[in-house]
Amino acid sequence: MQAKELRKKYLEFFKEKGHAIISSAPLLPENDPTVLFTTAGMHPLVPYLLGEPHPAGTRLTSCQKCIRTGDIDEVGDDSHLTFFEMLGNWSLGDYFKKEAIEFSFEFLTSEKWLNIPVNMLAVTVFEGDDDAPKDEESAKIWKSLGIPEDRISYLSKKDNWWGPAGQTGPCGPDSEMFYWVGEGEPHGNVQTNEDDWMEIWNDVFMQYNKTESGTFEPLKQKNVDTGLGLDRVATVLMGAKNVFETDLFKPIIEKISALTNIAYSDNPTSYRIIADHLRAATFMAADGVKPSNLDQGYVMRRLMRRAIRHGKTLGIEENFTHIIAKKVIHLMADSYPELQHEEEILKTFTLEEEQFSKTVHSGLREFEKLLKGFEMAFKNAGKKITEISGKQAFKLYDTYGFPIEMTIEEAKKHNLTVDEKGFQEAFEEHQKLSRAGAEEKFKGGLQDNSEATTRLHTATHLLHAALRKVLGDHVEQKGSNITAERLRFDFSHPDKISPEQLSEVEKYVNEAIQSNAEVKMSTMSVEEAKKSGAIGLFESKYGETVKVYDMSPWSKEICGGPHVKNLGELGTFKIKKEQSSSAGIRRIKAVLI
Ligand code: SER
Repeated sequence: MQAKELRKKYLEFFKEKGHAIISSAPLLPENDPTVLFTTAGMHPLVPYLLGEPHPAGTRLTSCQKCIRTGDIDEVGDDSHLTFFEMLGNWSLGDYFKKEAIEFSFEFLTSEKWLNIPVNMLAVTVFEGDDDAPKDEESAKIWKSLGIPEDRISYLSKKDNWWGPAGQTGPCGPDSEMFYWVGEGEPHGNVQTNEDDWMEIWNDVFMQYNKTESGTFEPLKQKNVDTGLGLDRVATVLMGAKNVFETDLFKPIIEKISALTNIAYSDNPTSYRIIADHLRAATFMAADGVKPSNLDQGYVMRRLMRRAIRHGKTLGIEENFTHIIAKKVIHLMADSYPELQHEEEILKTFTLEEEQFSKTVHSGLREFEKLLKGFEMAFKNAGKKITEISGKQAFKLYDTYGFPIEMTIEEAKKHNLTVDEKGFQEAFEEHQKLSRAGAEEKFKGGLQDNSEATTRLHTATHLLHAALRKVLGDHVEQKGSNITAERLRFDFSHPDKISPEQLSEVEKYVNEAIQSNAEVKMSTMSVEEAKKSGAIGLFESKYGETVKVYDMSPWSKEICGGPHVKNLGELGTFKIKKEQSSSAGIRRIKAVLI
């Protein structure tokens, strides 16, 4: 079975079981300042897991695009990816363990669905500790369905507990399903033969909220959150050795192969890094990310430049990233309509590749200067330097954008070593200092629903409407990031905004606040929402139900919420800063005082 079919079947199965199919949320979490990317299917659903009603009901299913960069250096082996798709189903206070496990079992083993022999499966359940009891209930359900007792392992919190995604939030014990990937007939279980069993699906029984003090309080409602790795299951169903041999990657690998004389089998690592990184970057570009030195843009730049370097390793001399991006778009635009902005995505790729090429040239020039310095030190003082210091390597990286890998490569050519540890220390010091600290943010946290952020969230809608009024209808939201202290809003606009325009925008928002207008929420289909004049990121697909927040006559926008009840609650709106975020995108930071 191909990945495309698996995606379709999963959603179809859960639809039959009364679930509403919801679109993948964008890769950039909205209104969550603590993480850069959506990392799991449950991530966009946090407010609903905490008790807010979801407009599409209490049973949901989706195929969510995700990015995790924690293992970025592992990409190139058989299984690690930065971009992946997670199929999931959710019960928001609806069904619990029994149905969740029964659904998983039926989908995996029924002839009508995946038809996996029960003998190929093993499961794990939570062994219990001071926070939650041993999960005998799940084990009993698995047994009743036909999973033999010796295929069930009881494991600790380290393995059988999921969440919270950050420091606090919904979490709970989970039960995981594994597929036999060992040699010969399946035997043992996850505890006895860990390496022979590969995790394919995780059913989380989200019934606790981890608080700031570290205690686990029962949630208002008992939820189910499941996640099935599309790439992993596609791999086993296709009988492929790894994900790069499935239909998710094969056409991309073939495209790379057409650009080089080095065969895939001679350097699979470089091929895989290029395929994974450029696929992730294509999806980032589709969600409006532009390569830069900050936050998501920084991650995108890092992925693209690493892919370009591996392209050079394969002897690809021409600019090629747009060719791979085009392939990714053609492969996946059916499932992800946002990829249809092909021209814009390809332009982003071409610009970045050209920019990088300039960077490499100036970096090489600086490297030559460094070498000259070493030669002079030898000539004038007889001092033979054999190592590039961490600080020097970091300066090349930080000031000239020259990647550390290239410094190491160039150093080797001249029989020099590089103090990589020293580089790492200088890098970490810099990360600590610059608030960019992109990787740090992956450790994550959850959406903050405090009063302060809720007020700023409502103010963001007013700002969006004001910008469209003052600057024109071309203004579109490109990103939003809210903390309890301030809002940050990125939007499309080609030029700097004049002080007069900014003060007009402020005036509009403050008039709205002073009008004390009521904030009304209603649910409707995307089509109705569009017809009613609501603006917003129309990520949702045809027929999907969405929430519309109506702050008439000031703003009407599709959004998940939450918002204040009355605009009068906001206080006074003040713009603190207006700047460029990336090409064609402006950024405004503002506060409520
Ligand atoms: N949140 C769980 C996971 O990411 C299940 O979806 O594995």
